[in-house]
Parts: sequence; C-alpha cells; structure tokens
Amino acid sequence: MRIVLLGAPGAGKGTQAKKLIDNYGIPQISTGDILRQNVADGTPLGKEAKSYMDRGELVTDRVVLGLVEDRLKKDDCKKGYILDGFPRNTAQAEALDKILASLGMSLTGALSVDVPKDDLMKRLTGRRTCKGCGQMYNIYFSLPKKEGVCDKCGGELFQRDDDKEETIRKRLDVYDAQTAPLIDYYKKKGILKSVMGIGNIDEIFKKVCTLLVR
Ligand code: AP5
Ligand code: MG
Repeated sequence: MRIVLLGAPGAGKGTQAKKLIDNYGIPQISTGDILRQNVADGTPLGKEAKSYMDRGELVTDRVVLGLVEDRLKKDDCKKGYILDGFPRNTAQAEALDKILASLGMSLTGALSVDVPKDDLMKRLTGRRTCKGCGQMYNIYFSLPKKEGVCDKCGGELFQRDDDKEETIRKRLDVYDAQTAPLIDYYKKKGILKSVMGIGNIDEIFKKVCTLLVR
C-alpha cells in the first residue's frame, strides 16, 4: 500500500494514519510531523520552516521535497507507506510523481478524508498530542483517561503552536486554494477514493480499510 492522505486541517489524516500503521505495519510520512520535529530540535531547516508554519502558510516546496525524497529512500518504505499532508499543491504532486518514477514506484491510491468545514475548528482547537508517541486526543471528543497524560505511553500531552483560531483560519484558506485541487489531480489519474470523516473513528477506519484494499 503506497498512499496519499488528502483532507483539510483537522479532517483526521493523522488519526487514521496512526491506525493504518498499526494495522498494516507501514510507515507514516507526515511532512508536518517531520517539520515540527526540526523546529523542536532547532535545526536550520526547522528555523526556516517555523515562520511559515506559525503563519499557517505552506513551507517552500524545495524544503519539503528534499525531506520526502530522503525519507522515501529509506528501507522501511519498500513495503509501502502513508504520505500524510504531502503533497500540498500541484507542484508537489508533480514532483512526487517524478521522485516515485525515479525510485521505480507508483502510488496505489489517494484517499480524501472529507469533513464539513464547521466541524474542523472545534477539532483543531481541542486537539492535544502526545509528546512521546504522537497519539492524538481531543478535549471535546476523545479525552485521555488522565488529564494531560497519554493513555498509550504515559507521555505528556501538548497543544500545537498552529492550533490557534487565527492560524487555523489561514490554514483552512490555504487548503482550499492550494491543496483541494489535488482531489481532481488524483481523480484524473483514476486512483482517488473518498471517505466521510465524521462520526466514530473506528467506524471511519473500517471504511478506510475497505476502500484501500479494494
Ligand atoms: P500538518 O501537520 O500536515 O497539518 P494539517 O494538514 O493542517 O492537518 P492536521 O495535522 O492539523 O490535521 P489532521 O487531518 O492530521 O487531523 P488529526 O488526525 O490530527 O501541517 C502543519 C503545517 O506544516 C502546515 O500548515 C505547513 O506550514 C507545514 N507543512 C506540512 N506539510 C507541508 C507540505 N507538504 N508543504 C508545505 N508545508 C507543509 O485530527 C484533528 C483532531 O480531530 C484531533 O484532536 C483528533 O483527535 C480529532 N478527530 C479525528 N477524527 C475525529 C472524528 N472522527 N471525530 C471527532 N474528532 C476527531
Ligand atoms: Mg496531521
């Protein structure tokens, strides 16, 4: 399975990706997570990316494409992977096609997780993430058993810097303008699948699995 996860900020790409990892044993390549790790580590790349991320804008294609190409060359990607939050615009999608062709690979699917706009703000302002294992929680929808502590690994939960209302609004605009056109891009290639991303997370996951193995 070599797939791209598409969907607005807060649609549940990361949530479903974590379940796909557990189920299929393939790695998640989240450009957002890789960039946040670079910011936290204070690398030159992280310093360059931070101002874009804080504004809710896309980091430059050059930076992101370099990260993805390096990651796809790692051995664990031979058995498949989940691209989460990449590609983010048509230029990245076209560049990905070239990178994959050079590695002798192609995508097996692109899955769009669709959620009405009205639900996204609450999901994002309520999101809490584990510093240890990356597990996602939500103060409105899926609380951990103990406040601020991850059920899975006991790690500390944190709120993302870009999950502030003003930045979320910008991220949603950027999604509409730059990323939503990719739904058509993959439809034209004949590999687009769509799932409604509202309701019970496990129920959505069942539908995701059915779509992806079809
Ligand atoms: P990125 O980290 O990719 O963020 P995003 O696309 O804005 O998406 P999110 O991670 O916010 O949402 P998600 O769909 O993963 O939702 P989640 O599962 O967490 O990118 C961040 C920034 O990095 C960008 O703005 C940009 O600056 C930069 N960047 C990243 N990639 C880039 C690229 N390729 N090019 C350029 N720049 C790039 O769920 C959200 C919440 O909802 C959670 O609390 C979860 O518990 C809850 N939830 C999930 N499912 C449900 C459900 N069914 N019902 C109720 N709640 C649910
Ligand atoms: Mg995510």
